[in-house]
Amino acid sequence: MGTKKLPLQTYGVLDPRVERTTIEADHTELSKRGWQLFTTEASNAEDITSVMGAIGDRLGARAVGRARAIQEVIQPVAAGQAHARSLSAKFGLGEFPLHVELSHRPRPCRYVLLGCIDPGVPSTATRLINWRELGFSAEERDALTSAPILVNTGRRSFYATLLSQEHGFLRFDPGCIEAVDKRGQEAIQIVADLLACAIPHEHSLIQGEILLIDNWVTLHGRGPTAANTGRQLARILIDG
Ligand SMILES: [Fe+2]
Repeated sequence: MGTKKLPLQTYGVLDPRVERTTIEADHTELSKRGWQLFTTEASNAEDITSVMGAIGDRLGARAVGRARAIQEVIQPVAAGQAHARSLSAKFGLGEFPLHVELSHRPRPCRYVLLGCIDPGVPSTATRLINWRELGFSAEERDALTSAPILVNTGRRSFYATLLSQEHGFLRFDPGCIEAVDKRGQEAIQIVADLLACAIPHEHSLIQGEILLIDNWVTLHGRGPTAANTGRQLARILIDG
């Protein structure tokens, strides 16, 4: 898969010691591109998550992830050690496909914050792509807003469409989305094919960097990794 490098410029520099109320983040890049990169001088999990919380709390309420926590530290895990319906259970240490976080909820969370505690050795690139740049045709948009798909969450599984009626968010996650008929199969294939042809932006986070992703417009994924690289990212999810 080809990739584009994220621009090296940073869009905001935050001091981990500043008071939450004094953080003035400019989110122009977030609304323009669908994500924003912050550099901080934070070097430990506590400081990094503190800055992430300050950024996230300005945007909305915290959402709980699969582990039922409002703040998590994630690291690559082998398939056998992962939550049954997580992407890790399916893809383990291999390449993580581009996906929308919390696609298994009726409405995916609005923002994802990833903070780099340890990039690992070797580091693993995070991949990003804004679905509005995939160039869906009018017919394809119709298919994505009308074809039913199954969101498999076990006992609370439900039917939905890939694109919300008002085109506010895309739902896409190979870990929990299944076709139940030919139309759904075609809708999933439309997104999969365009993603396969698209060139994602790629960035290897360094310690202290924080990536703010608008999860309604930007899919994220990860390159292949290995066990015990030491990679650790803090993750906070926000309902806008
Ligand atoms: Fe994710």
